[in-house]
Amino acid sequence: MCGIVGYIGEKNSNEVIFNGLTRLEYRGYDSAGIGVQDNGIQQVKTAGKVADLIKACQLENFPQSQVGIGHTRWATHGVPNNLNAHPHKDNSGKFTLVHNGIIENYLSIRKLLSKNGIECKSETDTEVLVQLIGYIYNKENISFEEAVRSALVEVIGAYGIVVLCSDEPNKMVAAKKGSPLVLGVGENEFIIASDTSPIINYTRKIIYLDDGEILICDKNNFAVKNIDENIEVSKTINEIKYSLDQIEKSGYDHFMLKEIHEQPTSIAESMRGRIIKNDGKIKLGGLQDHLHDILNTKRIIITACGTSWHAGLIGSYVIEELVRMPVNVEYASEFRYRETVVGPDTVIFAISQSGETADTLAAIKKAKSLGALTVGIVNTVGSSIARETDCGVYIHAGPEIGVASTKAFTSQVTVLNLIAILMAQVKDQNIKEVSHLINDLELLPQKVNEILTNTDEIQEVAKHFIDAENFLYLGRGYQFPVALEGALKLKEISYIHAEGYPAAEMKHGPIALIDENMPVVFIVTKKGYEKILSNIKEVTSRGGKVIIITSFDRDELYEISKFVIKVPEIHQCILPILTTIPLQILAYNIAKNKGCNVDQPRNLAKSVTVE
Ligand code: F6R
Repeated sequence: MCGIVGYIGEKNSNEVIFNGLTRLEYRGYDSAGIGVQDNGIQQVKTAGKVADLIKACQLENFPQSQVGIGHTRWATHGVPNNLNAHPHKDNSGKFTLVHNGIIENYLSIRKLLSKNGIECKSETDTEVLVQLIGYIYNKENISFEEAVRSALVEVIGAYGIVVLCSDEPNKMVAAKKGSPLVLGVGENEFIIASDTSPIINYTRKIIYLDDGEILICDKNNFAVKNIDENIEVSKTINEIKYSLDQIEKSGYDHFMLKEIHEQPTSIAESMRGRIIKNDGKIKLGGLQDHLHDILNTKRIIITACGTSWHAGLIGSYVIEELVRMPVNVEYASEFRYRETVVGPDTVIFAISQSGETADTLAAIKKAKSLGALTVGIVNTVGSSIARETDCGVYIHAGPEIGVASTKAFTSQVTVLNLIAILMAQVKDQNIKEVSHLINDLELLPQKVNEILTNTDEIQEVAKHFIDAENFLYLGRGYQFPVALEGALKLKEISYIHAEGYPAAEMKHGPIALIDENMPVVFIVTKKGYEKILSNIKEVTSRGGKVIIITSFDRDELYEISKFVIKVPEIHQCILPILTTIPLQILAYNIAKNKGCNVDQPRNLAKSVTVE
């Protein structure tokens, strides 16, 4: 949440910042702002999107500079208006700062400042930090770097910050604790940002800052130090591996649509090199050294949030079925605060697309502190969760920009299947079933492609339901998590209230909602067909409208509903991937037809780095 960019070099910093903020807008789009060095610090801030900021800068003839910072906000403390937008200046006007995270002790810092005659102007937690930096600097007569470091020692909370000081206009200082920051190392220039997307245009060389580190740079040199001890630390230079077109819309109307259509490729990428051709064995390098511990553990807990949690639920079904080991699935936000029974005999699988979700990260830290082995199933290479876990498997879905997760989900389910197969193979369990599953995994990209080459029917269904106010999604077994995911997709991008339920649970409550205005999406497969058919009849006999997604093509389904969407048949462990895709397309088309902003739904941000 919140995207930040800082630039120091020889280019026009406005350009680098505007391009970077546009790329980071998925992290928040409540307000945007820019601050640059130009005979003191100049800045413009606007409520709204980065495009509004660019317009405002054009109107004001905002000066060009070679040193600047920018911010796109997802509001936590304070409504999204110009005043609360970043960057924030201190009262002396010497410092300006952009921040991603939350300063938890901001009230006590605000009081301390107030006692010393410094009043904050905004409602944000961020402003207290820049005011504190200014206060310490002016009082103690120390350098820019020292003032930032001293202020950070007083701060409790999470931050990724970039700071400028008008007394040292050729320097940029940044620091990280709990919110991501990546440094791009260019020729006579540095770009610091919340992720690599603002950097890739200028350089592929990057350094991941770690928690508790402060970066000081001019256009030619940089140093990274430990905040608490003030000792320089050496950093490894990594390389950005993805290509520029992976983070562009490439002709699609929305990133979400592009990412839906990328799924044959992203799923293939998740499997690439991991199924050994001649013997059908699974190879996951990231787990090799820990497989013995994983297989000998008493208990597996899968933890995640949102869509990743839904993938985890499917993963738990697959592991229990193929490996016969007990698996619990926990929301990371609950796990981190609950009195869980976790110890050295527990293995935690943490699933995250962004690798930055605050609750998931905290759950991992808790599990580690209790002695558990932690395994990351992550998309974003080099992210905090990827680095915090003891070992893991990247899903390799490629950058996901649309706020509603699509291709990451199907890749997560693919990788969870690979992990379960590997575990079953090593345990010599269910070998026949596993080899059937491996055969079907190899057919998976092709079958996904079949769904995506003909989406006309789904688009037609979407047209019928744009005025619906509620939706129910029902499925059994492996299709229950799909029902949850279908409902989440619809509500987050179309603002239609939707609930996912196990189909059999309907009669324990939700059935009371059924009337002629309630569309109910049933996910129907061969397993449990008769049972779910009865559930469908329970709905139609009460006047409910039924949409059927099915891999089990039966004439009677067409007699029940004129909205039947067929998907190919495949092994039940990976069938959720095929049944989810029409639900992604349905949600996308309903939202698009309603005129909703599909890629930037209200109140949401892609990377949830606050609690
Ligand atoms: C829904 C969605 C969210 C995320 C959740 C976890 O479409 O994207 O529910 O799945 O915020 O995010 P990650 O996977 O980045 O940890």
